Amino acid sequence: MSTDNKPATSTAEASRAFAVTVSAAIFAIAVMVGLLGFVVMPVLEGQTTGLDSFTAICRAFGIGIPAEQNARSSKPSAPASSTAWDSATRNDVRRGDAAAGAALAQDTCAACHMPNGLSADPASVPSTTGLSARAIYKQLHDMKRGERVNEAMKGMLDELTDQNLTDLAAYYSRLPRRNHDIRAYNEVTPNAVVLATKGDVSRALPACEACHNPTAGGPLEVPALTGQYPAYIVTQLQAYAAGTRKNDLYGRMRRIAGKLTPAEIAAYYDAPRP
Ligand code: HEC
Ligand code: HEC
Repeated sequence: MSTDNKPATSTAEASRAFAVTVSAAIFAIAVMVGLLGFVVMPVLEGQTTGLDSFTAICRAFGIGIPAEQNARSSKPSAPASSTAWDSATRNDVRRGDAAAGAALAQDTCAACHMPNGLSADPASVPSTTGLSARAIYKQLHDMKRGERVNEAMKGMLDELTDQNLTDLAAYYSRLPRRNHDIRAYNEVTPNAVVLATKGDVSRALPACEACHNPTAGGPLEVPALTGQYPAYIVTQLQAYAAGTRKNDLYGRMRRIAGKLTPAEIAAYYDAPRP
């Protein structure tokens, strides 16, 4: 009989030991999950959003520290550009009066952008020939509303109506173009030509020419790069990369310029123009 009892007792002990082990394991897992959910993850996520560890842990437990105190989320997000290409705007730009624009340009713009659309100072002022009417209108519209900051033209556009802007766009877009294909420059580095014509798949960089038509302005609101002054192109790429120019819809140019190396930005179009 006693021989019968022995295995029964050890089975009971074994199952108790098993129950204790399982409970201990479940407890340990619960503690680890708790630590992960309430301490490790909040602290790590807190670091990326600028919260200190204590605040992050308090928030994980639901202890209210109002969201406004999070420095990054308190910034109001402004739209990149308020230019909307609805049919009314497209029609207005198409109907711009080039003769009225010419008179206005003579009075207001010619000191810097010469009557032929070239620059009075190529080191800082861009050429406004070769750009499509939509490209010119969008930049003027954005500058007027402060979405693109331009110290040189600040205030000047306050006096002008949207009709004035479409007239100016009509005038400048009809001036003869200086169309130069980047491949025509011997001085341009082979890497720049590859970037312009093929892009770089490894950095998810599309070819510049996919958007910037190589022989003419546009399409649509995309400005022409060919025929533009190198110094201006370099300053704009630097401004997009630094985020000081941010009126590009969907951040397209900011993303692209941010991937270019400083040497690529400097060398890109840094070649003498005919
Ligand atoms: C005092 C000099 C000055 C005057 C006057 C001036 N501009 Fe400008 N303009 C500039 C400068 C400088 C820039 C480039 C600013 C920058 O680097 O972002 C510029 C940029 C532009 C651009 C953007 C071109 C591009 O490729 O994005 C357009 C369009 C333009 N001007 C049109 C005009 C028109 C139209 C007038 C007259 C209403 C005018 N400007 C008057 C100096 C001037
Ligand atoms: C996905 C389309 C796209 C691609 C690809 C692209 N761009 Fe742009 N780029 C734009 C648009 C759109 C604008 C005008 C943004 C705005 O409204 O300010 C612009 C503006 C620019 C400007 C400012 C021009 C001016 O007159 O103010 C420069 C310089 C420029 N791009 C250079 C480049 C270079 C260099 C590359 C290739 C490395 C490139 N872009 C590739 C769409 C593109």
